Parts: sequence; structure tokens; C-alpha cells
Amino acid sequence: MNISRRDMLRISAGTGAGLLLGELPLTSQEPQVLRAIPSSGEQIPAVGLGSARTFSVGGSTTERAPLREVLRLFHTMGGRFFDTAPSYGSSERVAGELVRELGIHNDLFFATKISTGDGREAGIEQQEGSLRSWGRDVIDLNQVHNLRDVDIHLRTIRQAKAEGRTRYVGVTTSFPRQYEQMEQVLRREELDFVQVNYSLGERRAAERLLPLAQDRGLAVVVNEPYDVGRLFGVVRGRRLPDWAAEFDCRSWGQFFLKYILAHPAVTAIIPATSDPEHLVDNMGAGRGRLPEPRMRARMEELFDSLA
Ligand SMILES: NC(=O)c1ccc[n+]([C@@H]2O[C@H](COP(=O)([O-])OP(=O)(O)OC[C@H]3O[C@@H](n4cnc5c(N)ncnc54)[C@H](OP(=O)(O)O)[C@@H]3O)[C@@H](O)[C@H]2O)c1
Repeated sequence: MNISRRDMLRISAGTGAGLLLGELPLTSQEPQVLRAIPSSGEQIPAVGLGSARTFSVGGSTTERAPLREVLRLFHTMGGRFFDTAPSYGSSERVAGELVRELGIHNDLFFATKISTGDGREAGIEQQEGSLRSWGRDVIDLNQVHNLRDVDIHLRTIRQAKAEGRTRYVGVTTSFPRQYEQMEQVLRREELDFVQVNYSLGERRAAERLLPLAQDRGLAVVVNEPYDVGRLFGVVRGRRLPDWAAEFDCRSWGQFFLKYILAHPAVTAIIPATSDPEHLVDNMGAGRGRLPEPRMRARMEELFDSLA
């Protein structure tokens, strides 16, 4: 993956600091870490992009220009997995308009959800709306959002898969109170993906859910990797430890993301950002070494001492 001189200048102009510019030759030379989807063997880049809140904006250029740049850089830097939902305000539609403007709508791995509690027809309508929003014939991954009406919507998504209009079937949650129900669903259903919240600040998914997903041969997508941004509050004003360099980590953002990527069950992470500089930072987490188990324990210890 090569970043053009124009991109380097644009990124560096966007950062307003020399730090990321200094890193770009490294990030542009090393490939993004790829992970296989267990049910198919298809490889996807492990650092994806989320869109709850961040892409839910209006029509003004001021609001949309940074998001367009986030998407353009994401694609240029080798990112593919984009997660959205019809229930994220205008996010799915705005992202759909921007990816079509950029001509990358068929390049990205389009992951969306059925988010409704209003029954089968409403779920089908959401699915059709997602296809229309992105100008696509096929959704790469459709997920039952927060297990809402899970039996009904799994039937809809499986039907679409049988018709070749969806490639993978998944379920999501970001609530530890749903983990028990999620475990039952994972044991009972034939799925390709599970999406769950997991971060240095919220590690409960690692107790049972992540090992179960791994046993069941599922791709695992991690949402809320920054605990909805809260992790940055914990380390505000703190220097990154020198030993972070041992796993090619150059920022707190990369510290948090590399911790997750190093978990053996994890296939992809979907940090959300509306800031091109943060996007470059996040993509950097998918390059270079990852922490070993002993190092991960040290990261937990440090984080817990600050939290
Ligand atoms: N049940 C579900 O299916 C479910 C639930 C929750 C989330 N999700 C998915 O997971 C995605 C991620 O979760 P999330 O959006 O809730 O939270 P998140 O990714 O944990 O955190 C997002 C926050 O981190 C900030 N940020 C991102 N990169 C940064 C960086 N390098 N440095 C400093 N700040 C940074 C963002 O602000 P800036 O915009 O300023 O960068 C934003 O405020 C969602 O967008 C959604 O697609 C799914």
C-alpha cells in the first residue's frame, strides 16, 4: 500500500504537528494486519471504521468535509471494514453518499444491521434501505443489532444470504447485561460474525464471550474499542510509557487498539472518528508488532493504576 506525496502532504497539513508526518514513511511501507474470517477464509484488514454518532450529520460542507477525508484516507491506507446501522441517525445515509461520491462504495466491506423491534416487515425494509443508501446490490455483513428480535431478523438475513444479497450473518451487543443471552445465541445459531464491546476499560467480554466465539469459529468484531472515548480521559496528561515502543506503539490510541488486536479471538476493531488525524493514528495500530500476553498484562496493570 503506497501513500502518495499528495496524501502525505494532506495528512501532515491535517495533523498540524510533525509527529504523524514523521511516522508516515513507516506506516506507508508496512502492510495492514489482515485477519481471516473463519467461516470463509476471506482476509480483511483488522482496523475498520465505526460510524455511530460520528457520521450522523446534516448536509453542510463544513460537517461533511472532514468525514469525506476520513473515508478517503481510510480507503487509501488500506482500510475496508465499515460498520454502520440504519438506527445511527443519518450515519448510514451520509456515509453512503460520501462513499459513492468517492467511488469507493463497492471497495469497502459494508457491515450494517437490522435495528428494529417492529417485526419482520420493518426489518426487511431496513435491509432494503441499507442497500439503497449505499447503492449496493449486496451487503457484506448484516447483523442483528443488540439481539433485538434476534430470531425474526436472523431469518431475514439468512434469506438474503441464500439469495446472494448478503454475504455474512452476525449479531451484536455492547451491553454486558446481554452477554448471557449472547452466549446462548452463539451456542444455538450458525453465524459468521459476532460483534461485542471490549477495551482496556471494559474487559468483561474476555471472560467467556471471546473464548466462546473463538471455539465456535466466529469472526469477532470489537466495538467501543475506546470505551466511547472514555479511555482518553483516563490517560489525559500522562506520557506514553517507553516500553510501548517494544510493540511499535506511538500514541495512546494505538496503545488501546493494539491491546485489543493482540487478543487471539479478535478479527477486527471498529474505532469511530470524525477527525482525519485520528484516523491516521488509528490505522497505525494495524501495523508493526503487537503486544505479547505478558505485555498485555503490563498494559492492564498500567491502565488500572490510572483509572
Ligand atoms: N451494539 C452495537 O452494534 C454497537 C454498539 C456500540 C458501537 N458500535 C459500533 O462500534 C463503533 C465504535 O464505537 P463508538 O463509536 O461507540 O466508540 P469508540 O470507537 O470507542 O470511541 C469513539 C470516540 O473516540 C474518539 N477517537 C477516535 N480515535 C481517536 C484517536 N486516535 N485519538 C483520540 N480520540 C479518538 C472519537 O472522537 P473524534 O471523532 O474526535 O476522533 C470518539 O469520540 C461505533 O461507531 C459503531 O459503529 C456497535
